[in-house]
Amino acid sequence: MPYPYSLDLAHDWIGKQEAMRAEDEEFTYAVANGEGFIGTCGLQAHADGTHEIGYWIGEPYWNKGYASEAARAVLGEAVARFGAETLISGHFWENHASGRVLTKLGFRYTGEDHRWCLARQEKVRCLTMRLAQMET
Ligand SMILES: CC(C)(COP(=O)(O)OP(=O)(O)OC[C@H]1O[C@@H](n2cnc3c(N)ncnc32)[C@H](O)[C@@H]1OP(=O)(O)O)[C@@H](O)C(=O)NCCC(=O)NCCS
Repeated sequence: MPYPYSLDLAHDWIGKQEAMRAEDEEFTYAVANGEGFIGTCGLQAHADGTHEIGYWIGEPYWNKGYASEAARAVLGEAVARFGAETLISGHFWENHASGRVLTKLGFRYTGEDHRWCLARQEKVRCLTMRLAQMET
């Protein structure tokens, strides 16, 4: 995500959601707790038939299990709604919390590449991961 993240960027992103859902391109869920909206977790369909899972949680709510709970629920949706067989994901090498969320779900490391980080405006080493449904 870009940083700083302006209200205009948020409006723009929310505005695209309906069209992306209609095209089965991307399906994003809001993550909410008793206080309201605290983050998102979603799926992106790729041309090779894989589905990529991604998420963020507002910093005041980190380390309370929200991303793990949301990702597990979205994984269920990936199978039920999209018939997903293989899920992929990845995280920047130093994002250990995200790696933990994914390994707890059964994702395994497959390799690494360098991806453009919008927030830092530089390429960052990214560890790629995969979950084959038959392993769950
Ligand atoms: C990554 C992120 C989604 C995690 O959300 P969260 O709700 O805090 O995650 P959870 O509480 O479900 O799980 C975090 C796990 O990481 C562990 N963890 C946290 N910081 C860690 C660290 N520095 N090193 C190792 N493990 C760490 C926690 O102990 C927990 O594991 P556990 O359940 O075994 O105790 C959140 O930090 C975030 O939104 N970051 C910014 C956006 C982002 O990085 N998105 C993912 C892009 S790949």
